[in-house]
Amino acid sequence: MYSPIGRAITRIAPTIVRHYHSLITGTGSYLPPNIVANSDLAKKFNTSDEWIRKKTGIQARRYVDEGVGSSDLAVEASRKALHAAGKKAGDVDCILAATSTPDFNSPGIGVLIQQKLACHRVPAYDIHNTSPGFLFALELGDSLIRCGKYQCVLVVGAEVHSTGLDFTDRGRLMTVIFGDGAGAVVLEPTEGNHGLLSTRLHSDGFFYDKLWCEGPSSLKHPRLTSRMIDEGKIFPTMEGSLVFENAVNLMSLVCEEILVEKNISAQELQHVLPHQANLRVIEAVAERLNVPMTKVHHNIEHYGNTSSASIPILLDEKVRSKVIQEGDLILMTSFGSGFSWGGGLIRW
Ligand code: COA
Repeated sequence: MYSPIGRAITRIAPTIVRHYHSLITGTGSYLPPNIVANSDLAKKFNTSDEWIRKKTGIQARRYVDEGVGSSDLAVEASRKALHAAGKKAGDVDCILAATSTPDFNSPGIGVLIQQKLACHRVPAYDIHNTSPGFLFALELGDSLIRCGKYQCVLVVGAEVHSTGLDFTDRGRLMTVIFGDGAGAVVLEPTEGNHGLLSTRLHSDGFFYDKLWCEGPSSLKHPRLTSRMIDEGKIFPTMEGSLVFENAVNLMSLVCEEILVEKNISAQELQHVLPHQANLRVIEAVAERLNVPMTKVHHNIEHYGNTSSASIPILLDEKVRSKVIQEGDLILMTSFGSGFSWGGGLIRW
């Protein structure tokens, strides 16, 4: 065939464009067995069960034993998620691992999960967005499925905080909050009305040093000095009230963005799964969204704040206990260091 500009045109056969998005086909979680009560912490530094419960709602958290890393927790959660999805490790064609507490400085935990599960040579991403890291990984996994690149994506959030906390009076504000754990989901493509309907993510580095862990730091020569250790720069710190205020505002706002985008009201939601930052933060978000606490789930009482693992652990608990039923609308939201924050909407 001859075209007006004189070049041959090859006709491309019309193709049917298929619109996939992600369905969560399996969930899993793992908490290490060692339970640490508030009263156990009160033996190490100046705090009390009463203060911790009143300010955070936390009663206990889980800590790993020596030699167990976040990749180990991630693998346990992943095995359960794969089993629930009816998949074998060999079916996975991409791993997205979110953690702020990797086993080593490098490599990240993605390759460790890949090796321990024996998902041979599949790409393993590492995502370091702290608490909202799971939602960042979920959006990336969904995007990779939507563009047709992968058919079975394992998304994991895992943290071992307990080995990086300051168990002295200096660190008590942070130390009482955090716990260890992991959660995972399997994503597969679907053309149906169920699955991940929306994700919205945001970051703003303006407050990067208001909720952070400064060391080891490549700005320093060397990265880690005994002075940094003495000054506690290797432990996470935060400005508690600033973090509280931003967590409530930004999680509420991103939830409202998703509701507007999908043209649904908060009353149509069956479940809200907020990041388990602090029970007071969760209650304030529920109030802002005007959703009753009966629909706003929490397990922070038992596990504390497990950062990137908190939403997938909660999701797995509510799926396995059948609180979440087919067709339910679920809104997730998280906030953390950066600041970074986000939300996601699922039709189960
Ligand atoms: N036990 C006992 N007392 C403690 C304590 C602890 N573990 N930690 C701090 N305190 C003391 C403080 O030293 C302070 O004492 P002072 O009044 O004599 O100076 C007092 O308790 C109040 O501290 P403050 O920092 O004002 O508490 P707060 O009302 O801001 O509550 C948080 C602290 C951490 C519970 C709250 O700021 C918070 O929840 N922030 C958000 C946390 C969060 O979500 N982080 C993770 C985001 S992913």
